[in-house]
Amino acid sequence: MAILSTDSAVPVALALLPVILLYWVLYPWYFSPLRLIPGPWWAGYTKWWLVYKTWAGVRAKTIHDLHLKYGPYVRVAPNEISTSDSKAITAIYGVNSEFTKTEFYQYQLRGMTDAKPELFTMSDRKAHAKRRRELAHLFSMSTITEYEDIIARNVLECLNLISAEGKADKASNLYDWWHYLSMDITCELCFGNGFDMLHKGAVNPYIHDMYGSLMIEPVRWHFGWLNKYASWAPFKFIRDAEACSVRGYERGTKMVQEYKLKEDKGRRKDLLQKMINARDEDGKPLPDEDLNVQSTSFILAGSHTTSSSLTWIVWRILKSPEIHRKLNEELDEALGTQDRKIVPPHAKLDNLPYLNCIIKEGLRIDTSVPGSTPRYVPPEGAVLADRFLPRGTIISIQAYTTHRDPAVFPDPNSFKPERWLDETAEMRHLYVPFGADGPRKCIGIHLAYMELRVILAALFHRFELRFHGEVSDASMDMHELWLAAPVEQRLSIIAKEKA
Ligand code: HEM
Repeated sequence: MAILSTDSAVPVALALLPVILLYWVLYPWYFSPLRLIPGPWWAGYTKWWLVYKTWAGVRAKTIHDLHLKYGPYVRVAPNEISTSDSKAITAIYGVNSEFTKTEFYQYQLRGMTDAKPELFTMSDRKAHAKRRRELAHLFSMSTITEYEDIIARNVLECLNLISAEGKADKASNLYDWWHYLSMDITCELCFGNGFDMLHKGAVNPYIHDMYGSLMIEPVRWHFGWLNKYASWAPFKFIRDAEACSVRGYERGTKMVQEYKLKEDKGRRKDLLQKMINARDEDGKPLPDEDLNVQSTSFILAGSHTTSSSLTWIVWRILKSPEIHRKLNEELDEALGTQDRKIVPPHAKLDNLPYLNCIIKEGLRIDTSVPGSTPRYVPPEGAVLADRFLPRGTIISIQAYTTHRDPAVFPDPNSFKPERWLDETAEMRHLYVPFGADGPRKCIGIHLAYMELRVILAALFHRFELRFHGEVSDASMDMHELWLAAPVEQRLSIIAKEKA
């Protein structure tokens, strides 16, 4: 029996509407458990404004400005908080933390990995710990030295091509070169096959699809559930991005299959071979489809991050003649001046104080993952800075802000490698370019440092470098779609072989 007839339902609904509206208007201020967290008034009602900021590439900067205005805890969306409180870092990200990664990660890689969870995206803590144990040895200091040949060969190729441009008095766009180089290295490590983008001077179809799928990242980020309907979306660019995702996944699967057919009895020294050899506690190998998913994720996580960081660091060095001079002196002393074309072995670089200070400072000031690394508050809720946060609240820190704490990094917007000569515990704690210390910290950190050291040392030791024309600060400003890059994606330099 119907409780309300159609005739009476309409007036009742109309009568209730003001009550519902009033409740909605008042909710953020009087009823929401997050009502005491300061922030712009609209953040209590909607996250659409953050979608817009994400799309504009300025999310991290916007949230940073909110921290300057409102303090260490800011409400940025109805259910989301950003914090810059150093005491919260261990609680959220530390070894014993029960906070879990949000779906944001799965949605980012959704199409490219056919939604299969892998190390980067897994939110289940046990499943993640198991996978991390299976893969940790692939990235240990001793294992990554086995990848050095692949890195050195690609670096030499790249520098020879830059040299050829210099000899022809042509400018080199280092952003492009680092992009192709880091892709070729990571793809060779992860699929056993570099895409030779260095020589082709263009991204290969697999990488094209990978980036194509990221075109709708702001939508995936904030409205991940819409992903399911992406291939029916009314807007072509969304359908295209989804098609890239699907194609990319298929291409990845094929590359793993081809690799396995060619497998030369497990003697290869790349990451994929080591993944094929990896076993879990029960002696089981990783399923075939996980190999593709894992490789794809490593490429996404490990190439763009490295190439953007390299571009910014070279720019910062060339902007400061004094820093440039000191680095050259250190390299000449450590590597000699006999043969500048040799790509230096990593063992000669990892203890060079000035080179390492430059890299650390570069990753502090121009971080390639500058924004939120979101986590869910666990089911029992959490108390942070005397505030109770209910289950399911999204909370994060962002490197862009912790790296600019003036009490810990004085004059934070200046590039000062020397600050790392007197590294304090508080600097280490707030320094999170690879994520905060804990189980989800970047697994590729040693590999990334190795690449950065080898590439920068090889470049500066071999070439006289100068900007081609004017390189404005504005052109190198950060554009961020979670992964960040210089806004104009260009760093033009002239490279001449040193005598
Ligand atoms: C400069 C280079 C790099 C930067 C700045 C960087 C940054 C980061 C950050 C910030 C995270 C933590 C994300 C979070 O907690 O939300 C992370 C995680 C991760 N990174 Fe990197 N990364 C770099 C290079 C690499 C490389 C070379 C690889 C592998 C080839 C890699 C693979 C990963 C993976 C698999 C994770 C997830 C780890 C887990 O959840 O257990 N990254 N990275």
